[in-house]
Amino acid sequence: MTLFSAPVFCAIDTVDISRARSIVTAIAGVVAGIKVGLEFFHANGTMGIHALRDLCISIPLFLDLKFHDIPTTVAGAVRGVMPLQPFMIDVHASGGRAMMEAAAAASAEEADKAGAQRPLVVAVTVLTSLDSYAMAEVGMAASSVTDQVMRLASLAQACGLDGVVCSAHEVRRLRAGCGPGFRLVVPGVRPVWADHNDQRRVLTPTEALAAGADLLVIGRPVTAASDPAAAARRIAREIVESRGCA
Ligand code: C5P
Repeated sequence: MTLFSAPVFCAIDTVDISRARSIVTAIAGVVAGIKVGLEFFHANGTMGIHALRDLCISIPLFLDLKFHDIPTTVAGAVRGVMPLQPFMIDVHASGGRAMMEAAAAASAEEADKAGAQRPLVVAVTVLTSLDSYAMAEVGMAASSVTDQVMRLASLAQACGLDGVVCSAHEVRRLRAGCGPGFRLVVPGVRPVWADHNDQRRVLTPTEALAAGADLLVIGRPVTAASDPAAAARRIAREIVESRGCA
C-alpha cells in the first residue's frame, strides 16, 4: 500500500452499484482503501467488485467476507477471490487452527503462482454484536468476551495470520498481548461530529489510532454525508493534525 494520510478503509455497505461507484469515485485518493462486505458482494458478486476497481484500479480492497467453513472449502474460497487482488481478506477465528492455516496457505500459494503480493489475512474474533449473555447462549460461557477475544487473537497469530478485526476498546489489550507487528483493524469509529448510528461505545479516529489501531474501517460518517469526499477529507485532516504533521 502506498502512503496515505488517512489509514482509513471506507465501508461500502450498499447493494446499489451506482451509489457504490459514486462513493468510490468521490473518496478515491483521500482514504487508504475501500472495504466491501457481504451486503455488496452478495448482491453484485465479482462483477460488482470489478465495477468498483475499474474506477480506480490501484485502490486497495479489504474483501470482508468473513470466511468460516471446513479448511478445504475456506482454502477454495480464498483461491476463488484471489483474482480480485484484495489487499486484505478475513476469516472467523472460531473456524479453528486448521481452517486459519488453510486460508493463510492458500492465499500465499495463489499469490506466489501469480507473482503477486499476498493479501493480508486477518481474523474476526468475537463479533462486537455479541455480549456475554449472547456468548453463553452459543456455549461460550466459560470466558468473558475479552478473554475470548484474546484467546482467539493469540490463536490467529499462532496460525500465521496478519492481524484481527477488533473493537476500538480491545485495541490496547491486543496491542500489548500480540506485539507491534500484528495488524489491528478497527470498525466502530466515529469522529466527534458524526452520528453514532447503531454503533455503541465508539472511539474517535484519533483515539483509536492513539490506542494502537493500524487501520480504521469507517462507513456511514463518509457514505451518508451529503459530501462524502469532504467528510473523508475532514477525517484525514483530523488524523494528520492529531499526529502533529499538519
Ligand atoms: O457505517 P459504519 O462506520 O458503522 O460501518 C462499519 C463497518 O464495519 C460495517 O461494514 C460493519 O459491518 C463493519 N463491522 C463493524 N463491527 C464489527 C465488524 C465489522 O461495524 N465488529
